[in-house]
Order: sequence, then structure tokens, then C-alpha cells
Amino acid sequence: MKKIPVIMDVDTGIDDAVAILVAMAAPQLDIKGITVVAGNQTLEKTLHNTLSVVEYFGRSDIPVAAGSSRPLVKELQADPATHGESGLGTARLPQPTVKPHSMDAVSFLRETLEKSEEKITLVPVGPLTNIALLISCYPHIKEKIDRIVMMGGGAFEGNMNAVCEFNLFTDPEAAQIVFDSGIEIVMCGLDITMKSYTTMEDILRIKATGTKAGDFCAEAFALYYDRYVNNSRLPGCAVHDAVAVTYLLHPEWIKTERANVKVDIDGTETYGQTVCDFRKGRDKSMDNALVCLDIDREKFIGLLEETCKYYK
Ligand code: BDR
Ligand code: CA
Repeated sequence: MKKIPVIMDVDTGIDDAVAILVAMAAPQLDIKGITVVAGNQTLEKTLHNTLSVVEYFGRSDIPVAAGSSRPLVKELQADPATHGESGLGTARLPQPTVKPHSMDAVSFLRETLEKSEEKITLVPVGPLTNIALLISCYPHIKEKIDRIVMMGGGAFEGNMNAVCEFNLFTDPEAAQIVFDSGIEIVMCGLDITMKSYTTMEDILRIKATGTKAGDFCAEAFALYYDRYVNNSRLPGCAVHDAVAVTYLLHPEWIKTERANVKVDIDGTETYGQTVCDFRKGRDKSMDNALVCLDIDREKFIGLLEETCKYYK
């Protein structure tokens, strides 16, 4: 099977950790590296969490490079209320012994893309700071990016306010650079990720896999689940970032629509909103994204269970 070469960009984060687990278990993917950004927690913590996850789950061979410790313009506002003080809720992983790559994230991305004979898919599931820096500093590198399959934004809803999603809200300027870059984007925003939730029953099934990944996910979801059930309209917790990886593995489970997506960086109430134009009469030559709108949730949960079983 021809594998899809990917580089993930994460702000690990509970659902980032699950996304990494799904990607590392997938035979369809060739993970060339993981770059890390500040978002859900400080860079120090998101880097630590990423190293812990790759090492504990047996993939210390994947290079992990540290990226930006803050958004381009705004100050970092981490989200301990959702992801806990550590970033991984109440889950505890052993202290990692593996060290970050000697290059920073942008240099790592540049070198890996330049040296690659084939185009690589980028899978950012945090604020887009690292990706914006990469394409701003090295515009020629865009040719080596197959597409960007990302978690962020939302056509019809927000989670920071009525219209803005956390990753876009954290670094709107970076997101604007990425969406205006001309690179093809698959946007897994809140429209689909809020449909990709795990109920308590699902969490119990995940735990019942009896694997180290099942235990880790159940532990990590404990606070996260309460936060969602108490604060959102969902009957469970949204596993946002794993949806971007799922799109790569099973696009047939996902309903999409092409659109022209712009990021607002001027509005008072809409700063960081992804403004999605689906109108039939729009100038389709301006379309830059495939917007994901719906998913077969049962299949998605099945994939999470299968992923846990992989890590015996
Ligand atoms: C996004 O923000 C973070 O809480 C998650 O890791 C996800 O990337 C959802 O809005
Ligand atoms: Ca994330």
C-alpha cells in the first residue's frame, strides 16, 4: 500500500494526543515528523506531552520538533479549563526520555519538505502559527505541500464565542496567512468535530479494550467529558483533532462541500472567524477549501476503539 506522507502539527492537548494515537496506528500513514506549537497549554507543556505520547506508545523514532511559544500577534491564552494544568487532563504518562529534534519546527518542516521527493500533507490540529511562519519565511516550500488537512474554524458555529473556534481564535493572523496561501485546505472545523463526540458509553467501551491506550484515553477524557457535558450542547466530549486524521484514513465517512474560506482579523465580535462562502453563484475560482460538514459518528468511534486495541 502506498502510504500518505504526513507531518502533524500539534498543541497536545487531550484530543491532540488521541489524534497522534490514531495516526501512529494507521498503516495508511507515513509520519515524517510532528511539530509542536503553543495553544491548549504552553509550548513547554505541549512539547512535553507530545514527547510523552510518542515514547509511551512506542514511536520514539518519530522526530518531534518544538515550534512557536506564542501566536504571531496575540498573547497566548492557554485552556487549562478544558485540557487541565498539564494539558492531558488527569492522565499521567511517564517522564519522556526522548529529546526534541535539534531543529526548531519551522526549520524541520522546511528541511523535511525540501528533501522529500514526494509532496507531503500537513496535518495541523492546533493554532496555525508554525505553518504560517513556514510559508511566510519560505514561500517556495508551498510547492512541496500536497494539502493541509487541519482542525480549526467552523462554518456555522464557534466555541470561544458564537462564531470563533479555539485554534483560529488563538492565532487569527496565522490562520489568515494559511487560508490565503493558495494551498488546498481540508477544514475539519466545529461543523464536523462537534458531531464527533464520545458518550460515557463510548468511553467505557474504549476503556474496556483493556489496553494502555484504552486506559490513557479513559483517564484523559475524565475531566474533558465533564467540561463538555456541563458547558456545551453535546451528550459527550468532542474528539476534534482525531477527525482530521480520520479524514485522511476514511474520507468516505465524511460529507464535505467546497467553499471559499476567509479568516476575519478585523472584526470586534468576529476576530478569528472562518467566513465560509458556499453560495452557488460565488466566484468558484476563489475556492480554497473543502469544508467538512458531517461524519458517520459510529464509524469514527469504531476507529477510536480499533486504535486503542492496536496499542496492546
Ligand atoms: C480545538 O481546540 C483545542 O481545544 C483542541 O485541541 C482542538 O484542536 C477545538 O476547538
Ligand atoms: Ca489541538
